[in-house]
Amino acid sequence: MPIIIKEIAALETYGVRHPVLRAGRPLEDCAMEGDDLESTFHLGAYDEELHIGVATFLKSEARQSPIVFDTINSYYQLRGMGVIPDHQGRGIGKLLLEKGIEKLQSYQIDMLWFNARVIAVPFYESMGFEKTGEPFEVKNIGTHFKMFKKL
Ligand SMILES: CC(C)(COP(=O)(O)OP(=O)(O)OC[C@H]1O[C@@H](n2cnc3c(N)ncnc32)[C@H](O)[C@@H]1OP(=O)(O)O)[C@@H](O)C(=O)NCCC(=O)NCCS
Repeated sequence: MPIIIKEIAALETYGVRHPVLRAGRPLEDCAMEGDDLESTFHLGAYDEELHIGVATFLKSEARQSPIVFDTINSYYQLRGMGVIPDHQGRGIGKLLLEKGIEKLQSYQIDMLWFNARVIAVPFYESMGFEKTGEPFEVKNIGTHFKMFKKL
C-alpha cells in the first residue's frame, strides 16, 4: 500500500507530535500556537491505518520571518514536523514537505521558513532549504537554526 498524505485536525497531530517531538512531557505540551486558525493546515502521513508522520503549516507575517525579500509578501511557517522513528529514512518527511509546498504554491505563498532542530538540518538542506543567521537554543529542545526557501 502506498503512503497516504492527507489533511488532519490539530488534535490528530498529537499521536505523532507527542512521541517524536514532546516525548516524556505532558500531552498538553503538544499544542502549538495557531493550531486552530483557519489559515493553518496540518498534514498527516499514513501507512495503511498507521499514523506515522505530521507537519503543520502556519500563516506568518513578513516581520516574523528570519529573512524578507522585497519581491515576497506571502509567508508561511512550518512547525511540528516529525516522523515516527521506525519509519524515518523511508521518504515520509520528504513526502509531507512536498505535499505542503504543493498546497502553499496553490495558495500563491512565496516563502516557507521555520526553526530547525540541528539534527534535522541535513534533511531540510536535502530539500533545498537554506540556513540563515546564528544557531540558537530552545529550552528543553536544543540547538536550532532558522531555515527558509523561496517557493
Ligand atoms: C527530520 C525528519 C522529519 C525527516 O523525515 P524522514 O522521513 O526521516 O526523512 P526522509 O526519509 O523523507 O528523507 C528525505 C531526504 O533527506 C535526507 N535525510 C534525512 N535525514 C537526514 C539526515 N539526518 N542527514 C542527511 N540527510 C538526511 C534523506 O537522505 C533523503 O534524501 P534523498 O531524497 O536524497 O534520499 C525525521 O527524521 C524526524 O522526525 N526526526 C525527529 C524529529 C525532528 O527532528 N523533527 C524536525 C524538527 S525541526
